Amino acid sequence: MPNDTGFVPHDTRADVVDAAISGLSASPKTLPPTLFYDAEGCRLFYEITRQPEYYLTRTETVLLRSIAPTLVPDGFGDAVLVEFGGSDESKARILLDRPDTSFQTYVSIDVAEVALRAMRDRLEVSHPGLTVVPVVADFMQPLQLPALGSPRMGFFPGSTIGNLDPAAATRFLAAARVSLGADAWFLLGADLRKSPRVLLPAYNDAAGVTAAFNLNLLRRLNREAAADFKLDGFRHEAIWNDRDSRIEMHLVSDREQSVCLAGRRIDFFEGESIHTENSYKHTEQRLVAIARDGGWEAQRVWKDPAGWFGIFLLRGG
Ligand code: AVJ
Repeated sequence: MPNDTGFVPHDTRADVVDAAISGLSASPKTLPPTLFYDAEGCRLFYEITRQPEYYLTRTETVLLRSIAPTLVPDGFGDAVLVEFGGSDESKARILLDRPDTSFQTYVSIDVAEVALRAMRDRLEVSHPGLTVVPVVADFMQPLQLPALGSPRMGFFPGSTIGNLDPAAATRFLAAARVSLGADAWFLLGADLRKSPRVLLPAYNDAAGVTAAFNLNLLRRLNREAAADFKLDGFRHEAIWNDRDSRIEMHLVSDREQSVCLAGRRIDFFEGESIHTENSYKHTEQRLVAIARDGGWEAQRVWKDPAGWFGIFLLRGG
């Protein structure tokens, strides 16, 4: 997952080549958004979070800070915080820094091993009393967590859930419920449905950082999948798909062209797109329903004053 602190790419070249071949052989063509996050992609994502149009990170951070003192249920005790995709602990810190810190243990699940280790080293300096447990794993898969105390609270901030279609989001939440065990809590941060007049600029910032982030995918394939994409042959496009309630990012071929990738030829017609990302923007009610389908009851929902971003406190059975 993205971070601004020494991310080391984790995908092997064979994974990148396989993902690229399968996505670009499909019709319509796709590439998985997980491929965005090579070292340069992580840096560009961090730049996106600082753009004036990209309200998500700012809004969630302010909201988390304001609710942190009341967030943890009474009698929560020596709790365990389990972040899914947490090689960047900046949001977890907001919870770990509570004056009455209930969390004794911070478990962070991410495929980026080197980034996880750096995260642990930082927290060991700033939070000497905290037990930090990095778990190198793909958080999308059900996993066996090490023996830990309880209660446990899962943490999935950043609206990363928006990359998953509703069925996959439900599957992820159901798997997290199994991984966390009985009586767990879950804190989910998700960007909410709103006017495309607000959403579209967030994915098409004036400085062109999101465009560079999207196009960096092709640069990565040129390097890691022996491809020869001409970067000026494709343009970034972000569109609002109202029916599916999502922002879609595409790379659109501006001419008929052929590209070589790992010895294969891939043909593009003029205007053909590679669909690189979905960012679902559900209503509060829809997210509550998705959580319920995954085995979680919403206990509380906090929103910023504009109602743009939601933080959902869920309770597993
Ligand atoms: C990290 C998946 C939440 O969907 O807003 C930012 C990634 N893509 N700009 C998002 C992203 C384009 C981001 N997430």
